[in-house]
Amino acid sequence: MSAPVNRRQWLKSTGLVAGSSVLLPGVLPALDASHARRAIAFRDMSRAEYADALVQMERDATTARAAAGPIRLSSNENPFGMSPKAKESIMAAWPEHSQYQLQSIPELKAVYAKNIGMDPSNILITQGSSETLSIADLAFNLRGGEVVTPWPTFEGLPRYADTMGLTVHRVPLTETLGHDFVAMEKQVTNAVNLVFICNPNNPTGILEDANKTRDFVRSVSKRALVVVDEAYHDFVDEPSYRPMLDMVKAGENVIISRTASKIHGIAGLRIGFVIARPDIIERMKGYATGTPNAFGLRAAIASLQDSEYQDYVRKNNREGRALLTKTLESMGKKVAKSQANFVFFQSGTPAEKVGAAMKAKGILIGRPFPPFNDWTRVSIGTSEEMKQFIAALPEALRV
Ligand SMILES: Cc1ncc(COP(=O)(O)O)c(C=O)c1O
Repeated sequence: MSAPVNRRQWLKSTGLVAGSSVLLPGVLPALDASHARRAIAFRDMSRAEYADALVQMERDATTARAAAGPIRLSSNENPFGMSPKAKESIMAAWPEHSQYQLQSIPELKAVYAKNIGMDPSNILITQGSSETLSIADLAFNLRGGEVVTPWPTFEGLPRYADTMGLTVHRVPLTETLGHDFVAMEKQVTNAVNLVFICNPNNPTGILEDANKTRDFVRSVSKRALVVVDEAYHDFVDEPSYRPMLDMVKAGENVIISRTASKIHGIAGLRIGFVIARPDIIERMKGYATGTPNAFGLRAAIASLQDSEYQDYVRKNNREGRALLTKTLESMGKKVAKSQANFVFFQSGTPAEKVGAAMKAKGILIGRPFPPFNDWTRVSIGTSEEMKQFIAALPEALRV
């Protein structure tokens, strides 16, 4: 395999770089329409210049999304798309699209491990966290076994288990929409190999109490592997929150699943992260169904190091979530306390009807989540999109 091409060397060799400036990248694919307008690379900008670029990113994203069709507040996507620096790093890594044995796999592992204070041997990079959840089923339940999961939750792991013909115990959420840890624990018999929890949960956005979650995980992980889906981890700002990293460090039977689809905005490029004991990582690696793609890897590496972009996304999300929650509460609606990038509320009207009314107004929202049939899930969009959603709300709820 040839040595990896240094981004700057490559840009120089293509005549795109003069000193610190990127010149017109006419030979590059039009991944970024605004690229040609810039005289300076995002990575060479001062903090103030980059802060302006992020405001422009929001404007561009709002315009592009409006032009592309209905506003997507349906799948908990990042409305801004990837970090400008991630886009730039994809363009600089262009030659890698034709390569196998990508150097960016160990690079991303190292960057991610450093970011979360773990060893690279604790990390597996997957094709999105959906693959992580399927691999968990394959690696630990292929020869039979049962699964315990809260319900409703993200369907990836239980649905794959259904496909494999496994018995899945779906334990209803409590009245306050939390995991029913007591009822879940009762289902963890010797036949159960995998227990799934999702924190914050999807579709509720609710973050579980840190001590209760830990007590549950500590107890059931003596009998089964516990998969903790932390897809929305980056949006949590509750100070008492404690992710499960220390349990992995302590060598417990715990698998943490995270994703680059949410805060890093690259759902379409399919990058996920497994954090677990090295022996669990090795076992899961054997069941992977492919390898991550070159551009997703590069985008994730750049985005993980772009704290300004992540802060921008987090701030927009926090503000949109607070505004939406306040508005819904002022309309007398029951709202689940979200720590994620979406809000789940009781509209009092069948979710299909609210969805159809919103669609007629050019906005897509979440599908129904039985048995919460008169509850609706809305993803946080750009600030302009949230204003549009709120303006459309009174009429859509009168359907
Ligand atoms: C809780 C949860 N886990 C996993 C995923 C899948 O994410 P990915 O894009 O990494 O496959 C989602 C997607 O919405 C999710 O809500």
